[in-house]
Amino acid sequence: MNYNKKTIEDIELNGKKVLVRCDFNVPLDENRNITDDTRITAALPTIRYLLSKQAAVILCSHLGRPKGEFNAKYSLAPVAARLTELLGQEVKLAKDVIGPDADALTSSLKPGEVMLLENVRFHKEEEKNDPEFAKKLASYAEVYVNDAFGTAHRAHASTAGVADYLPAVCGYLINKEISIMGKALDDPKRPFVAILGGAKVSDKIGVINNLLEKVDTLIVGGGMAYTFVKAMGGSIGKSLCEDDKLDYAREMLEKAKARGVNFLLPVDNVAAKEFAADAEAFTVKTDEIPDDLMGLDIGPETVDMFSEAIKNAGTVVWNGPMGVFEFDRFANGTRAIAKAVAESNSVSIIGGGDSAAAIQQLGFADKMTHISTGGGASLEFLEGLELPGIACLMDK
Ligand code: 3PG
Repeated sequence: MNYNKKTIEDIELNGKKVLVRCDFNVPLDENRNITDDTRITAALPTIRYLLSKQAAVILCSHLGRPKGEFNAKYSLAPVAARLTELLGQEVKLAKDVIGPDADALTSSLKPGEVMLLENVRFHKEEEKNDPEFAKKLASYAEVYVNDAFGTAHRAHASTAGVADYLPAVCGYLINKEISIMGKALDDPKRPFVAILGGAKVSDKIGVINNLLEKVDTLIVGGGMAYTFVKAMGGSIGKSLCEDDKLDYAREMLEKAKARGVNFLLPVDNVAAKEFAADAEAFTVKTDEIPDDLMGLDIGPETVDMFSEAIKNAGTVVWNGPMGVFEFDRFANGTRAIAKAVAESNSVSIIGGGDSAAAIQQLGFADKMTHISTGGGASLEFLEGLELPGIACLMDK
């Protein structure tokens, strides 16, 4: 993939109208309060830079999956309010995306002002990457900036299509994400250790395959580890397992061997009879889990073994928790691995989504070099896939 894309610093912006695609897909509680504004604060450097150039800034984003029609539950109103507070200047919200209100607000927008269009997914044309819809969005501006790393894996009208009609560059957030993760993949400080976890092997098929060509050590924990353990002939009791991925798991173990990659799997686990926060916990050997137990976390011996591998790493890429960290009783493994990464001198990169939430919840966020704002996008990046929201931007 080509990461060498023009940025906002490579284009004339003075006094221009600029359409900026952000990923303001933030979590909201039942009263529509934003519970984590990381994705909003991550967009501020780009917005502030554009304002310093006296650009007129038209922001757009999706929120949730409203299925192509207006739904007040998915309005970007809470985001406009939060942006107004953070920027210290009014951020007007258009009532529509390409309707009369957006027309009026975008045409009267002055240099140094900021506005936000309503949720682009209120139109089914957005996810279809409809050229007419993209053209209409583009008609509001003279320059297009994509800073929505979290949505860069989607080929939608506002993330990719619009680049057919305007000079297109990336903002600081996309630039930072691709520089840090791109360097880790192409020119890592060694030893390069990848840690993969989470429930399913099937979510990470391409990632495992690609990382095995880059890393010195691959650590696999979490629910996905049991499929590998079973593939090697172990008894995993009631633990998660994808039987249709056993051959794939064997193939990856072979590939690791052939390439000289140190492939680490758990040797002990904390298991329980049921999937519950208060379930009694038993420490068992990973390949001898009794029939009535399921593994819910990595065990103490495994923590020591994984931590030892992480201690001297030059680069660590981590995606997916080591166990059911949402239940305190089964969070020790994820916490201990987060601590090991935090205490190492490595360049530490955490994939977005669940992994970022785990690191934040466990209090290690400020110890990491980079926490990606992309869940699906960071996984596709680690898979080595070309992200349409980046591919569409002008090359340097
Ligand atoms: C995300 O939260 O991963 C991005 O905002 C993309 O959202 P989507 O999976 O609904 O396209």
